[in-house]
Amino acid sequence: MCGIVGYLGNRNAAPVLFEGLKKLEYRGYDSAGIAVMERGAFSVVRRAGRVSELGGAVSLGGKCGIGHTRWATHGAPVERNAHPHCYKRFAVVHNGIIENEHLLREECRARGEAFSSDTDSEVIAHLLEQDYEGDLLGALRKTASRLVGSYAVAVLCLDEPDVIALARRASPLVVGVGEGELFAASDVPAIAAAGVRVYALEEGEFALLRREGASFYAADGSPVRKEPVAYDLEDDVPEKKGYRHFMEKEMAEIPLVLSRSASVGELAALAPSLCGVERVQIVACGTAYHSGLCAKRAFEALARVPTEVTVASEYRYGDPIVPPHTLAIAVSQSGETADTLAAAELARGRGALLLAVTNVRYSSLTALADFSLFTQAGREIAVAATKSFNAQLMLLYRLAEALAEAKGKKIHAGALDFIPRLAEEAARAGGKVRGWVPHFLGARAAFFLGRGADYCAALEGSLKLKEISYLPSEGYAAGELKHGTLALVDRTTPVVAVLTDRALAEKTFNAVHETYARGAKVFLVTTLPEYAERDEVVSSVLLPECDPLFSPVLSVLPLQALAYYVSIARGNDPDKPRNLAKSVTVE
Ligand code: AGP
Repeated sequence: MCGIVGYLGNRNAAPVLFEGLKKLEYRGYDSAGIAVMERGAFSVVRRAGRVSELGGAVSLGGKCGIGHTRWATHGAPVERNAHPHCYKRFAVVHNGIIENEHLLREECRARGEAFSSDTDSEVIAHLLEQDYEGDLLGALRKTASRLVGSYAVAVLCLDEPDVIALARRASPLVVGVGEGELFAASDVPAIAAAGVRVYALEEGEFALLRREGASFYAADGSPVRKEPVAYDLEDDVPEKKGYRHFMEKEMAEIPLVLSRSASVGELAALAPSLCGVERVQIVACGTAYHSGLCAKRAFEALARVPTEVTVASEYRYGDPIVPPHTLAIAVSQSGETADTLAAAELARGRGALLLAVTNVRYSSLTALADFSLFTQAGREIAVAATKSFNAQLMLLYRLAEALAEAKGKKIHAGALDFIPRLAEEAARAGGKVRGWVPHFLGARAAFFLGRGADYCAALEGSLKLKEISYLPSEGYAAGELKHGTLALVDRTTPVVAVLTDRALAEKTFNAVHETYARGAKVFLVTTLPEYAERDEVVSSVLLPECDPLFSPVLSVLPLQALAYYVSIARGNDPDKPRNLAKSVTVE
């Protein structure tokens, strides 16, 4: 992951870089740094911790510089591992992983070169120093050809003042061209401003930012002409708008986001391609994987099309069988998740029609896919996905209906139209979970149980809780608990059961009983009033009734809220949970 920025213009670079880094913090926030070039030398400030720790860097002079916010892969999140990494004439910031770092480092060491960090990135500065023969682009191309892995890099060279060299492979990088100034960044928001034209570097491309302008080059060094990409300035200004955290704001937006999914125009364009689909393979990670699990049930129930859902990191190394007429769906909020991209590419390479379901219109995933559907959730800043999950569900449910229609199956269309209004009711009812928090504060672990679609919601509720509260938690199929995991349940264990399918409710409640008998504190998220008041239950959230197939889009609301309140009560920052980042662009 990590975020990189670059600036060359007439303003002092450091404050511009600092502002850019703050907008990239969603990519990582365990250390940060800035290097500017001034009078033939680098001035560098690096700090462990968040970008705000770099406050002192803002006073640096110099009109040309690079910056970095880190999510540690190689080397602990401490100051000496923070970027930029400088070696002799070069300063480098890097997003990605250099997989052959070990060999390259040994090679450098054998030449008598010493390293000052444990990172894989530092080796890039050493190679540049070896490869430089008075031509920065040439050196960067040569160095890049020796790297195995992924990178977006920005480079300063003391011998070529007022130049920033850029390279990209498997990690995103954009260039901004404004009035008399040039920018580079891992993502558009870091450089988006009125009058700035944004250009995306493609796989294997290079760029040079000089006072005369930006030039782009293909891998073989030949010049490339580029058109600017369109972006929405409004959408790129993340503000909390009076909410305490982005996560709280994003949860509050869910009903509105769901109502937008009624107008997914691209679905109609996809319809003719759905008739021939004989199976579906969904690849995704984390929360998006849970969306896939929910969608599988809808695809199979409504369209009777066999659907497999695989964690993308497993799919990509699993030698998957992709029979003819397979629709592969890659689900990804960011559209930049490295494992999802690799899995999607593999599925497409093996003959599948590739559909991207993403929240980001100009992402690596949309560039790869045959078709794209946009979740229209608006920018999501909090690391914990909330509104994007609900939006993915709505879109995938609508896709399931479209697939069913294409297959000539009868469906009761219209049920989804009520979901946005029901979500408002569910969000109101879900406020009750605040009262559950004390039971989670004294717990060693929590469990989330469900069957069918409720199991999928339970998985997501559990992921949310562990991700931002750091309380160990398991989402479990209600019937599976007794096959081993029940051994973990004791009087300190809160158990949250999701119960929205009357046909399965009594069976799920058996499992609830088994935990209750071991002293567990039972909480319920249900659409079934007859269970809400049962003696075994400490407290229930009663949701409005909806088709159980689609219920995760509602039942997850109180679970998201529960995670949020437990996180705050434990003194955490729910927007920036430890060890995580919003966009996982490395393996
Ligand atoms: C969700 O709360 C997580 N932060 C994480 O699991 C996330 O869903 C996953 O990394 C996938 O991201 P993507 O949707 O951008 O591909």
